[in-house]
Parts: sequence; C-alpha cells; structure tokens
Amino acid sequence: MTHRIPMAGVLGAPVAHSQSPKLHGYWLRRYGIEGHYVPIHVEQSDLEEVIRAMPKMGFVGANVTIPHKEAVLGLADIVTDRAALIGAANTLIFRSDGKLHADNTDGFGFTENLRANSDWDPKAGPAAVLGAGGASRAVIASLIEMGVPEIRLSNRTRTRSDALRHEFGTKISVVEWVNAGDMLDGATTVINTTALGMVGQEELKINLDKLSPKAVVTDIVYTPLRTKLLEDAAAIGCQTVDGLGMLLYQAVPGFERWFGTRPEVDAATRDHILNT
Ligand code: ATR
Repeated sequence: MTHRIPMAGVLGAPVAHSQSPKLHGYWLRRYGIEGHYVPIHVEQSDLEEVIRAMPKMGFVGANVTIPHKEAVLGLADIVTDRAALIGAANTLIFRSDGKLHADNTDGFGFTENLRANSDWDPKAGPAAVLGAGGASRAVIASLIEMGVPEIRLSNRTRTRSDALRHEFGTKISVVEWVNAGDMLDGATTVINTTALGMVGQEELKINLDKLSPKAVVTDIVYTPLRTKLLEDAAAIGCQTVDGLGMLLYQAVPGFERWFGTRPEVDAATRDHILNT
C-alpha cells in the first residue's frame, strides 16, 4: 500500500472558532509527526455524505462539535459506552476495517483536568453541578464513573435537571436555580457547566456563603480563564481549576488514536493555545 499522510479534522457548523486545529497542529509539529488536522464546516444535511467520504480522502478520524455531536451516534457502527451514556460523541475513528467508531472524551477531559491540577478526591463528598445542558451530561457521567457519592444539580430550566435525574438515577438530587447556593453546603466538588461568566454572557450569580474551603471548584468556561466563580472561590480558600485544561485533555485520546503518540498537556501547550 502506498504511504498516506494521516489526516484528521473537526466537523462543525460553525467551526471557525474551534481551538482544535491549533491544538492538534501544535502537537503534530511538536512530535514531528507527518499529518494534518483541519477545520471542516459541514451542514447537518451533508453530515453523512461527508463522513462516509472522509476515510477515502485519507482521514483517520475526526472531532465533532456543535451541532453534530448527537447525530453522529446514528451513523456510527461502534459507540463506546460512555458516548452512549452521554448521548453524544466528540471523537470519531475511521477504522481500517471500514467501521466508524464514536467515542466521547469530554468527561475524560473534565476528570483529567481536575486530577492534574488539584488534589481532587471525587469520593470525598457531594458534588454540586450548575447547568443541565450537553456539557453537564458529560460531567455527570464521569462523576458517577469516578464514584462521587452524591450529585446535587441545579439548572435555570428545572425540566432539564429533572430529566437528568430521571436518566442518571438516584445519586442525583435537583435543587431550584434560585436556591443554587444551598447545594454548596458540604460539597467537595463544584462545577459550573453553564455558559454564565463567559465573555459576552451574564455573570453567574450564586451565593457562596455555604462554600467550604475544602471544595475543589472548576468552571468549563475558559474565556476568561479566571472566571468570577473561580476568583471568589479562591478568595474563600478553595483550590480552583480553570476550564482550559478540559479542552486540552479531551483532545488527548483522539490524537493518540489517530497519530500514534500520546500528547502531553503541559504549560507549553497551554501557552500555545492562549498566546498564539
Ligand atoms: P452546553 O452543551 O455547553 O452545555 P447547552 O446544552 O446549550 O450547552 O446548555 C447550556 C447551559 O447553560 C444550560 O444549563 C442552560 O440553562 P437552561 O437549560 O435553563 O437553558 C445554561 N444557561 C445558559 N444561559 C443561561 C442564563 N442566562 N441563565 C442561567 N443558565 C443559563
């Protein structure tokens, strides 16, 4: 067989804002790997046609972002347990036997980020989760996998948090959005999975009076890196972990599968994403 340069990319609409090409491109150069990673804007109606054609063009895999993360599950031959549980995939592998493999590494990114950047012990006590959207599903699935004893969940739209409780089971209790501060009492892990606090969005308004300094607090928002939640929690004495690490770590399993090297997430990687 002739030598083909492996290619991967990110499928989305829009896709221009994605940091993935920058991140994977950096790792390819850093490890001297002959390969390419490109942004691919694809509309929903073209998704299947594009995915079916990609292996023939030399693609070994792809990341998937909004709005295709759910739809790709229906096209895949093999769906990992964690992708099925979350109901969405962010990482595709075009296997040499022609089968399409779909995985979700968002939860892995979330837990690796906390493990690498704090003394996080998932089993130490209850987790408090703000938000019940797509990111929240990945976070909740991995919290359960990590053995968190109890999950308290609060979301502006109550029906969405109730639906997650129904789906993920009795470890989850739902707290009214107006009382979100109450669920911080005794919580040892606190996660904002909403877009609140992001540049251009409203601030997350939550009463931190009950937040213990023993809690590890993280935010999936990474613009700004230091959200008001993280700043306020740090002032109380909590360990805080910014959201950029989740983005970086979720990319590790895909890069390794496609290009054969496990990439390292380190200060140079962060610096490249933040400053170039
Ligand atoms: P993602 O995949 O990033 O989680 P999403 O599924 O659109 O995106 O979910 C966004 C989350 O941010 C939801 O929890 C949403 O709350 P609702 O379910 O009530 O919409 C939350 N969110 C967004 N804007 C918000 C706001 N202004 N106030 C409170 N919550 C907000």
